[in-house]
Parts: sequence; C-alpha cells; structure tokens
Amino acid sequence: MKSLVLFSLLVTMVFALPEEFDKQRYKVGEKIFENKCSSCHVKSIPMQTLLKNFLQEENKLLKLKAPTGNQISYRLKSQIGSKDDIEFQIEEDIDFIKEYLINPDKTNTICLNGVVRHFDTMPSLKGKISEKEMEDVTFFLYFLEGFNGVNKYYNKEEF
Ligand code: HEC
Repeated sequence: MKSLVLFSLLVTMVFALPEEFDKQRYKVGEKIFENKCSSCHVKSIPMQTLLKNFLQEENKLLKLKAPTGNQISYRLKSQIGSKDDIEFQIEEDIDFIKEYLINPDKTNTICLNGVVRHFDTMPSLKGKISEKEMEDVTFFLYFLEGFNGVNKYYNKEEF
C-alpha cells in the first residue's frame, strides 16, 4: 500500500503540469499557430535532426523556411528572462513576440546565428494578427516544448 502511494506520488510529480499551464489556452494558441504561422514554421522536429540540418547540412536536409515551433519554444525559455518565474517569463516572451511579429528585425534574434543566417527576415504580420492572438500563440509556443528539450510537463499522448 505504502509503495502504491509512493508510486502515485512519483507519477504525479513526473507528469504534473505547472500551475501556469492552461490546456484550453494552449489549444487556442495552437490553432492560431496552425492558421497564421505554419505556412512558414513547421510545428516540431526533433532537436537532433534540427542540429544536423542547420549546423552540418546547411538546411539542405529539411529545407525549412523558418525556425520550427519547438526551436522557438526552446529559445523563448533560454534567451529571455528566467525559468524560475514561469508566469513572469511568459509575460516577457509575450512582449518579445508582440514586438517581433510587428517589427521583425533579425538583429534582435533569440535564435542561434547558425540557424537564422539561413533565412531572410520574417515579414511583418502588422494588421494580420490581434493582440490577443499574439498573446495566446506565445502561450502555446512557450509550452510546446518542455524545458531543456524534455517535455516533462504533459503526457504527449493527450495532444
Ligand atoms: C511568411 C512566412 C512567415 C510567417 C507566416 C511567420 N513567420 Fe515567423 N519567421 C519567418 C522567418 C523566415 C523567420 C526567420 C528570420 C527571422 O528571425 O526574422 C521567422 C522567425 C520567427 C521568430 C524568431 C525570431 C528570432 O529570430 O528570434 C519567431 C518568434 C517567429 N518567427 C514567430 C512567428 C509566429 C508566432 C508566427 C505566426 C503568428 C509567424 N512567425 C509567422 C517567417 C514567417
């Protein structure tokens, strides 16, 4: 009995969602990504394949038009603010995305130079996306890939 309790506790710890995670908002953001970003940004490709593509194969392996959603997700958590305060970091990421989508400028990049150098600057989405949509799509991107490339926050099968 005791071991069962311990086991359940362990499972809860591994799959527990941070309190900041809101599945409904994530889904709303995902739809926005599919409608307004996915013509250029692929949602997710394993990091190892991406590293090979960008750093060894000059993007000839995948021929991507832009960094992928999971690359952006990783960078939003590693390049801006601190993961110690998820709620605040999301706010900072929202500020960055809002600025970038309206005034894209590769000199403000959060991606590796070895990645962005393969692309022209993103076209502005001014007039094509609302404030609320930019906020929700950031929320989705933030949680798309977990921390340090390991998504420990949710069970993938649910998505
Ligand atoms: C017409 C193609 C296109 C569309 C549509 C598009 N992007 Fe991009 N995006 C790009 C390209 C190309 C880059 C890489 C060059 C750059 O960083 O500006 C990029 C880069 C980015 C970056 C990384 C910026 C950096 O360099 O750090 C973010 C964040 C981003 N896009 C978010 C979005 C989101 C969110 C959407 C949808 C709401 C979207 N993009 C729609 C083409 C696009």
